[in-house]
Amino acid sequence: MSKILVTGGLGFIGSNFIRYILEKYSDVEIINLDAMKYGSNPKNLKEYEKDDRYTFIKGDISDYDLMKKIVKDVDILVNFAAETHVDRSISNPHSFLKSNVIGVFTILEAIRKYNPNIRFIQISTDEVYGDILKGSFKEEDRLKPSSPYSASKAAADMFVLAYVRTYNIDAIITRCTNNYGPFQFPEKLIPKTIIRASMNLKVPVYGTGKNIRDWIYVLDHCEAIDLIIKKGEKGEIYNISSNEEKTNLEVVKTILRLMNKDESLIEFVEDRPGHDLRYSLDSTKIRKELGWKPKYSFEDGIKMTINWYLNNKWWWKSIIDDKILHPTPWKLRW
Ligand SMILES: NC(=O)c1ccc[n+]([C@@H]2O[C@H](COP(=O)([O-])OP(=O)(O)OC[C@H]3O[C@@H](n4cnc5c(N)ncnc54)[C@H](O)[C@@H]3O)[C@@H](O)[C@H]2O)c1
Repeated sequence: MSKILVTGGLGFIGSNFIRYILEKYSDVEIINLDAMKYGSNPKNLKEYEKDDRYTFIKGDISDYDLMKKIVKDVDILVNFAAETHVDRSISNPHSFLKSNVIGVFTILEAIRKYNPNIRFIQISTDEVYGDILKGSFKEEDRLKPSSPYSASKAAADMFVLAYVRTYNIDAIITRCTNNYGPFQFPEKLIPKTIIRASMNLKVPVYGTGKNIRDWIYVLDHCEAIDLIIKKGEKGEIYNISSNEEKTNLEVVKTILRLMNKDESLIEFVEDRPGHDLRYSLDSTKIRKELGWKPKYSFEDGIKMTINWYLNNKWWWKSIIDDKILHPTPWKLRW
């Protein structure tokens, strides 16, 4: 039986990953360590609270005394824990340095000293490469982060690579494109659009809405991570993408169409500073070397996601406060 420490497992992708693993494998034990910051939600994994295979610990990855105790006893560590909202990194960069850089450094130190044989998967992001107008980034391309968020993730990647080289730890980095699906915090584009449209409220779109992102259904990302744990090569970086590039405006219009809502709900708002125009990843490496490919098209994934939010109001109703009812540009968070 393998014992997996998942950090940041009460957030969007981490909770989907834990559910995916517990449903797929019976002989697995999961410890979920999460600092329970604003984006986390204990309701995400409520159904596993009484499952013997699942343990939750409230804690911070930058707490060395805690991390050194926990890493001793696990086989695999998958780190999702991070401050993740780009807009928040613009208004408050310091907390991003603490969780995303010091936090990963603390994990690496705990591994190096207390369990150097652990397999460590660092969940990074496509945003570390910066934007690209034509073509797609490969794993060896240089990093050119634009926001304090992506800079903090890039710094963490550098530490991970240095620890593989210097201390020979068994670490792997994944860089995935934009995820969507159930349990995503309502401040992000897709849940915000679905929730606000369902309430017939204006749907904010930054700038002209021409920014392009490549969207992946969260379970495709989870499957890729599972494969990387089993078959990934130490010290490697794997890009993960679905090749479903859409402008933000296309995403919003697709959601409105599928929800039978009028496009007049769209409201263009002041753009985010440093807003990357297009992200694009070349994911040939994981497809060729590990045999991964996405299962869900954007059209299917977005229908499933809309249905999930419409059928699970209990989940988001308590999260949204008046901030979501009064969207504002980046300066005021929403
Ligand atoms: N959402 C995306 O589209 C996307 C795409 C590529 C990569 N990623 C990466 O995937 C990871 C998860 O993203 P998400 O969208 O699920 O984020 P999220 O904000 O939903 O979840 C992050 C979780 O980490 C926890 N956390 C934050 N700081 C912590 C700390 N110091 N110690 C312990 N827990 C802490 C939070 O409480 C939260 O539960 C992040 O590392 C992010 O950079 C996300």
